[in-house]
Amino acid sequence: MTATARRQARICRERYLAGFGGELDIVVVGQIARDIVLLVDELPGARAAADVRERRELLGGKGANQAVACAQLGASVALLGVVGDDEVGTALLAQARADHIDVVCVVHRPEGRTALIVNVVERGGAWRYLEDFAGTELTEAEVEGARGTLVAASSVIVQLQQPAALAAATIARDAGRRVVLDGAPPADQRADLLATADVVRADAKEAALLTGSRMDSVDTAVRAARSVLAEGPSMVALAVEAEGDLFAWPDGHVFIPYTADPTVDTTGAGDSLIAALTVALTRGESPEAAARAAAAAAGSTVGHLGGRPALGRA
Ligand SMILES: Nc1ncnc2c1ncn2[C@@H]1O[C@H](COP(=O)(O)OP(=O)(O)O)[C@@H](O)[C@H]1O
Ligand SMILES: [Mg+2]
Repeated sequence: MTATARRQARICRERYLAGFGGELDIVVVGQIARDIVLLVDELPGARAAADVRERRELLGGKGANQAVACAQLGASVALLGVVGDDEVGTALLAQARADHIDVVCVVHRPEGRTALIVNVVERGGAWRYLEDFAGTELTEAEVEGARGTLVAASSVIVQLQQPAALAAATIARDAGRRVVLDGAPPADQRADLLATADVVRADAKEAALLTGSRMDSVDTAVRAARSVLAEGPSMVALAVEAEGDLFAWPDGHVFIPYTADPTVDTTGAGDSLIAALTVALTRGESPEAAARAAAAAAGSTVGHLGGRPALGRA
């Protein structure tokens, strides 16, 4: 562990004990980014320009989106991610605090810059992301430094884009916490990650990587979910291409089709889904009730521009 990481770990522990000391519902381990969302009628070709019809500048990144959703649903939530040593990072954390997210353990990368996502959305919902996440991945030492926070929560959501995902999931699992994985595990860590997991959620592309089958029908998704359940998790949520979301658990499953409401931008819908699923399970709701809450949260996120959820407490 470097001196900086040691210092961060100490500050995290001390400030955590001083400021909170109680139990948390959820910790989210994942990306934090400045999210610039631009709506255009149509993407211009090279050497051409388009007018921006609507612009939003948001606290974004999957980790932050999920934490915002958890807080909006009334859960106490902490975020573990990385910001740079810049004004953008300071502003994003101020927004996170205003969103009632505990950011005590967020790592400030000295001389680093905060991640940036530019999300260009065409009318009709086709999105393109330009992403700069260089130097913003959590290290295993930083995850270890946040152990005190990870084990203080009932549930820990881990985004599998993080190389230190297994370290975070293992700490949570060993402490008996609910481990919720978002994404597709890298092949070399697949067995270990699935063995730590209580819940796994994958969008259609991630589900194809996770299961080896294209999610082109509900039947395929049910079969694929059953095979993932056999590897350890007690709940699996898989998106079925253009159709809806399948939720499966050892003695049941439910498929919830997408509503016909117009889709502006699906960005963040998966983040709302996993957050609502985790909040419901943490409150002791049944798998089916949690699944319905999750699908409703996803559905309510596709109607607006950008990944920031807008969920009530209902
Ligand atoms: N028309 C729709 N109605 C409701 N939900 C939708 C619709 N289209 C997509 N979704 C939701 O969007 C999710 C997209 O997930 P994902 O790609 O992981 O989003 P992100 O990572 O941006 O949060 C799907 O799992 C589904 O729940
Ligand atoms: Mg996703």
